[in-house]
Amino acid sequence: MAKAVGIDIGGTGIKGALVDSATGELISERIKLPTPGGGEPDDIVNTVIEIIDQLKVDADIPVGVCFPAVVIHGKTMSAANVSKKWIGLEAEKLFEKALERDIRFVNDADAAGVAEVRYGAAKDVAGLVILTTLGTGIGSALIYDGVLIPNAELGHIEVDGKDAERRASYAAKERARLSYKGWAKRLQRYYEVLEALFSPDLLIVGGGVSKSYEEFLPLLTLRAPIVPAALRNNAGILGAAALAVKDTTAAGEGPAKAVE
Ligand code: BGC
Repeated sequence: MAKAVGIDIGGTGIKGALVDSATGELISERIKLPTPGGGEPDDIVNTVIEIIDQLKVDADIPVGVCFPAVVIHGKTMSAANVSKKWIGLEAEKLFEKALERDIRFVNDADAAGVAEVRYGAAKDVAGLVILTTLGTGIGSALIYDGVLIPNAELGHIEVDGKDAERRASYAAKERARLSYKGWAKRLQRYYEVLEALFSPDLLIVGGGVSKSYEEFLPLLTLRAPIVPAALRNNAGILGAAALAVKDTTAAGEGPAKAVE
């Protein structure tokens, strides 16, 4: 058993659990705390420390953290649903100092994509898979023949003159008090544009709302099959944990550290 902690930082909640990265199963309870208002770096770091304390894991257990921003060489380079202070921040180093250990630090949707390749709906799928997470924002992972192409920001493509996630995320559905049917119209338009640009072989839909996929996926008419994430909202935790375990060779991992 290769144990690792996965922490998934979102715009609304921060979740963590101990994971068996060989099987992709949670082996502790899942702890979820609200993302502190404003999404400031110190507050988020303190919440992550709190979750790791609650998990009571040994100091030598690898930790993977995923975050809702572009992550390049450990730096956060965007901040759509957290404080703008994250832009350009040495975020990986900040967490490593606070947690007093090395961590693996990646984009949240990329972590979910890696988990779906290893344990879920993208396993052994050839060609282009696009995973989108519908939450506070829209996250995306581009996977070709099982290999992740990191930091695709397809939640921010322009659809009918607007930033896609502002209209089609789950938070947008809630803000506009849309029924599933009303939301599905916006999702239809969004996925049509993705199909026109990328011609994917498979679309996977993750995020908390993916557990209610029967309410909206059947309303969509697309060329590619569109399926719910097999790991539902645990994909980020599982992918971050899997990436933290260094001795794995499974598809989707990429190099342990990016070339500087
Ligand atoms: C961010 C992405 C993130 C997604 C889901 C978007 O607003 O730009 O980096 O993956 O939200 O959290």
